Amino acid sequence: MHRGVPGSHGVYETALHSVKHMGDAFIAGLPKCELHVHLEGTLEPGHCAALAGRHGLAAPGDRPGAYDGLADFLSDYYAALDCLRDEQDFFDLTAAYLGTARRQGVSYVEMFFDPQAHTSRGVPFDLVVSGIHRAQEDARMRGGPGSALILCFLRDAGAASAKSTLEAASPYRGWILGVGLDSNEEGHPPDEYAEVFAAARAAGFRLTMHCDPLQADAVTHLWQCLELIGVDRVDHGVDCLRDERLCEQLRRRRLGLTFCPLSNLRLYGDLMGEAVTEMLARDLLVTVNSDDPAYFGGYVADNYEALADAAHLDRADLARLARASFEASWLPAESKAAHQRAVDDYLSGG
Ligand code: ADE
Ligand code: ZN
Repeated sequence: MHRGVPGSHGVYETALHSVKHMGDAFIAGLPKCELHVHLEGTLEPGHCAALAGRHGLAAPGDRPGAYDGLADFLSDYYAALDCLRDEQDFFDLTAAYLGTARRQGVSYVEMFFDPQAHTSRGVPFDLVVSGIHRAQEDARMRGGPGSALILCFLRDAGAASAKSTLEAASPYRGWILGVGLDSNEEGHPPDEYAEVFAAARAAGFRLTMHCDPLQADAVTHLWQCLELIGVDRVDHGVDCLRDERLCEQLRRRRLGLTFCPLSNLRLYGDLMGEAVTEMLARDLLVTVNSDDPAYFGGYVADNYEALADAAHLDRADLARLARASFEASWLPAESKAAHQRAVDDYLSGG
């Protein structure tokens, strides 16, 4: 068990590693794209306590600094969601994240939300999506970051629930760019969701799926993502390094892998910096992301910093990762190229 103690200023310290926040001006200013962040995982403890007070709920307990794996983390994550109840709550959650992302140099983000975690508590789908969308538009009008939304199905809620969630999403096709699969992977391989993902593809959604690190049957799950589901990206996916052929396929298809350093550290006690070094050496399209920043001790720039320290990355490496983040996004080609030029100009001091 890697439980730590809450530190001051909302920064969580563990015996494993203490996270510096935005100390590196180069990283803070580097234009970057975030592709793996759960909006619900950006709910800071203070915000959660304020919402609980507003809704007359008991104050949430302290969060530990680290968890004993995915299932241990998810029980805290779902418990905290009870304080998200009305449209304004979803607006505020999203607005707070987008404001932080902007300060961390994010120019564009594709972010997850978990509608079933709200509809199962009686919070209507439309209210959740409307609050999030209003904050996205508000941020856009204030100069960014630009953002797109990915609806995640909860893999432990079953295919029938995913199917009805996809139906609920169909009027919002214009507001939702893609669908993903998250929550507890144990006993829930991608093939359980093949039909609903095929329907999502037919409806025009882009596809991604979580393949969390160190899960049982990780390599089989990754192959199913590629061969059966036909994903457009893979979330986490670090276990691909165990299979030479899988790496080759990922490289040839230029499929993005959304690596999450502080998530790895707080869930598994290892940031996995050597894995990134190896992925870069194999020319895989690896990107850096925060996953659940309010739980794992840092937003995306903090993840770049922690990774740079652990894997001894220089500025050119960091710029390569930032370029990759735009390449792996689902932006149109011209837009990707414009963002990548901004990275190049930044690196060359222009
Ligand atoms: N839901 C929120 N964060 C998650 C993660 N890291 N893995 C799987 N499901 C999640
Ligand atoms: Zn995730």
